Amino acid sequence: MKILLLGPPGSGKGTQAKFICEKFGIPQISTGDMLRAAVKAQTSLGLAAQKIMEAGDLVSDDIILGLVKERLNNPDCQHGYLLDGFPRTIAQAEGMRAMGIEIEFIVELQVDDEEIVRRLSGRRIHEASGRTYHIDFNPPKVKGHDDHTGEPLLQRADDREETVRNRLQVYHRQTAPLIEFYSALVAGNNQALSPRHIRIQGSGEIREIQQSILRNIEAQRAGSRSF
Ligand code: AP5
Ligand code: MG
Repeated sequence: MKILLLGPPGSGKGTQAKFICEKFGIPQISTGDMLRAAVKAQTSLGLAAQKIMEAGDLVSDDIILGLVKERLNNPDCQHGYLLDGFPRTIAQAEGMRAMGIEIEFIVELQVDDEEIVRRLSGRRIHEASGRTYHIDFNPPKVKGHDDHTGEPLLQRADDREETVRNRLQVYHRQTAPLIEFYSALVAGNNQALSPRHIRIQGSGEIREIQQSILRNIEAQRAGSRSF
C-alpha cells in the first residue's frame, strides 16, 4: 500500500494520515514533520531549513529527495508507506520516479483557501508525535494537552495568517501542477504502473472524510475505476 496524500496546507493531510496509517499498518512519511524535528534538534539540515519554513517557502528539492530516500530505506517501509507533503514539486516527483519510489494511490484533499486560513489559525500540534488538533473543530480532551501523553500542545511558527497565505500561493504555483503531471502518466502507455487518483472533498466532518477515503481506496483496490 503506497499512498500519496496531496492537498494544500491545512487540508487535513496530517489528520487523515493518522487514520489511514493505522488502518493499513503503514508508516506516515511526513517531510514537514521530519524537517521540524531537524529544526528542533538544530542539526545542519534544521539550521538550513528553519528560515525557509518560517517564511512558508519550499526547502530545496535535493535536500528533500535525500531525506526521503534515506527514510524509505528503513525496514518499516517494506510493505508500503503514506507520503504526506512529498513530492511537492514536479522536480521532486521526477526525482522519486528516477529513484524507483512508487505510488499506487494519490488521495487529493480539496479545501477552499479561506477555510484553510480559519483552520490553521486554530491548529495546535503535539510536537513529538505530529498529532494535530484544532481548538474548535478537533479539540483535545484536556485543553492545551495531547490526548495520549498529556504533554503540552504548541502552535506552529508558520501558522500566522500572512505565512499561511504565502504557503497557499506556493501550493497553487508549485504543488497543484502535480495533478496534471500524474494525469499525463495515466493517459500514457503505462496505465498499470500509474497511480490511481482519488479526489476527496476535504471539508466537512473529519470522520466522514476518513470513511470516504477508506471507501474509495477499497473500491479502487477491488478493481473498480468508477471514482
Ligand atoms: P508540512 O508540514 O507538510 O505542511 P503543509 O503541507 O503546509 O500542511 P500542514 O501540515 O500545514 O496541513 P495538513 O494538510 O497536514 O493539515 P492538518 O491535518 O494539520 O510542511 C511545512 C513546511 O515544510 C513547508 O511549508 C515547507 O517549507 C517544508 N516542506 C515540507 N515538505 C516539503 C517538501 N516536500 N519540499 C519542500 N519543502 C517541504 O489540519 C489542519 C488543521 O485543520 C488542524 O487544526 C486540524 O485539526 C483541522 N482539521 C483537519 N480536518 C478538518 C476538517 N475536516 N474540518 C475542520 N478542521 C479540520
Ligand atoms: Mg501536516
